[in-house]
Amino acid sequence: MSKLWNEDRIISTIFKEIRDEGLEKLRFMDIGCGGGREIVRIAWTDKDALCFGLDLSSEMIQRTLGLKKKIKLANLALIRGSALNLPFNDSIFNCVLCSFLLMLFGDIELRAAIAEIHRILCKNGILFAIVFSPNDPSCLNRNWTDQETASVSKLPIGFFTESQIRKLFEDFQVKSLLSFDYLDSSHGYPHTHNVWFLIALKPG
Ligand SMILES: C[S@@+](CC[C@H](N)C(=O)[O-])C[C@H]1O[C@@H](n2cnc3c(N)ncnc32)[C@H](O)[C@@H]1O
Repeated sequence: MSKLWNEDRIISTIFKEIRDEGLEKLRFMDIGCGGGREIVRIAWTDKDALCFGLDLSSEMIQRTLGLKKKIKLANLALIRGSALNLPFNDSIFNCVLCSFLLMLFGDIELRAAIAEIHRILCKNGILFAIVFSPNDPSCLNRNWTDQETASVSKLPIGFFTESQIRKLFEDFQVKSLLSFDYLDSSHGYPHTHNVWFLIALKPG
């Protein structure tokens, strides 16, 4: 298999992990869902899953809503809100995805966001998180900005080492922490990022 990952491979890895953990009746939360490229596919793939996408940007929520309507997805709800103060009760999701979000936060916000993820996940629930590694090209060129992101999420962007990730997620049981180049075609022109893909459980 190619070393280059894409969205298909992310989504199929998520579903493989869900099967391996024997999770049923998915309650799936995508925090910082952006234009919905992951949560729309997750909701489409498992029509019995109850899916939620949350984003700070109403523009992104509208964009994902457009996709939801276009393909008539009944099992996806979209909410405008902040990762730092999630409008959900404790322990109600068995899957949480956080893709290209956590690296946007400074130290204090980052810890608050991780605490919120831990709070809303149920015991044995799975966290999937994607963040930049220091090998990402944009780490070498700090002039890189994503206009969509910059407008709502206060750069600078963080780049995480493996030991930082393991420390930040010490309240979770890390199942795998993969590093790879990810072909990103979601905005502008296709380009690659070097990322960490964390799969972790909230201990039972
Ligand atoms: C780089 S985009 C990633 C979008 C999507 N997860 C993906 O993988 O394509 C980051 C998203 O996080 C959102 N965001 C930034 N700060 C946030 C916060 N405090 N709470 C929720 N969403 C936030 C932005 O509006 C943006 O849509």
